[in-house]
Amino acid sequence: MERLQKILAQAGVASRRKCEEMIQAGLVEVNGEKVTELGAKADPAADVITVNGKRIRGEKKLYLMLNKPKGVITSATDPQGRKVVTDFLPGIKERVYPVGRLDYDTEGLLLLTNDGEFANLLTHPSHHVPKTYLATVRGVPHGTSLEKLQKGIKLEDGMTAPAEVEYHDIDTEKNQATISITIYEGRNRQVRRMFDAIHHPVIRLKRVRFGELPLSPLPRGKYRHLNEEEIKELRDIAMKSHNIHK
Ligand code: URA
Repeated sequence: MERLQKILAQAGVASRRKCEEMIQAGLVEVNGEKVTELGAKADPAADVITVNGKRIRGEKKLYLMLNKPKGVITSATDPQGRKVVTDFLPGIKERVYPVGRLDYDTEGLLLLTNDGEFANLLTHPSHHVPKTYLATVRGVPHGTSLEKLQKGIKLEDGMTAPAEVEYHDIDTEKNQATISITIYEGRNRQVRRMFDAIHHPVIRLKRVRFGELPLSPLPRGKYRHLNEEEIKELRDIAMKSHNIHK
């Protein structure tokens, strides 16, 4: 038996706080009975729980890591029939959703889950979960340019938060460099826009770490289940980063 607001949040209905409001507003029923008390518990596997008359699922929770190839959409379906990340999850029958998104042309570590609360925890802007990328860029940026990225740079939608930036590889023959960059936000096309702002456009972008969780050694296009410890570490880092940045 679990508290109703926890069951609802885990089913992806809304944040736990919003679910509490929904319970108090009388929108939630368990086995046909309206429940408005916050202490109420239910069994997600056995009870019929509805929100606004719609039944929520009490599925087994899945936590997956995919090494997303480029040229794939971070979405569960695409109306235009292009390749989507769930095409790379053979054997997974449950409906899982990406935790945040990677651009069509970005590759690397993507988490997928059917635990809505876990996904909210990791993507909520106030939780500042670190994400590390290897960005191969045109030209070799000066240290002073990288410092700008480190301190925060002005983009159309405001200044970026401080980031960690270091050289990973320099290829003078090809006139390009690979930079490791860790950001604590998740704005749309953020890394690409940051490098555009210092006039070193991104040629290739790969996410190699989410929180403390590294991508390697998962082959491109393959997925695996996270273990209990990895799930706990991700939860902990989201809570810890939230407290540090409060
Ligand atoms: N930043 C980007 O620019 N693209 C991504 O896919 C992720 C972060």
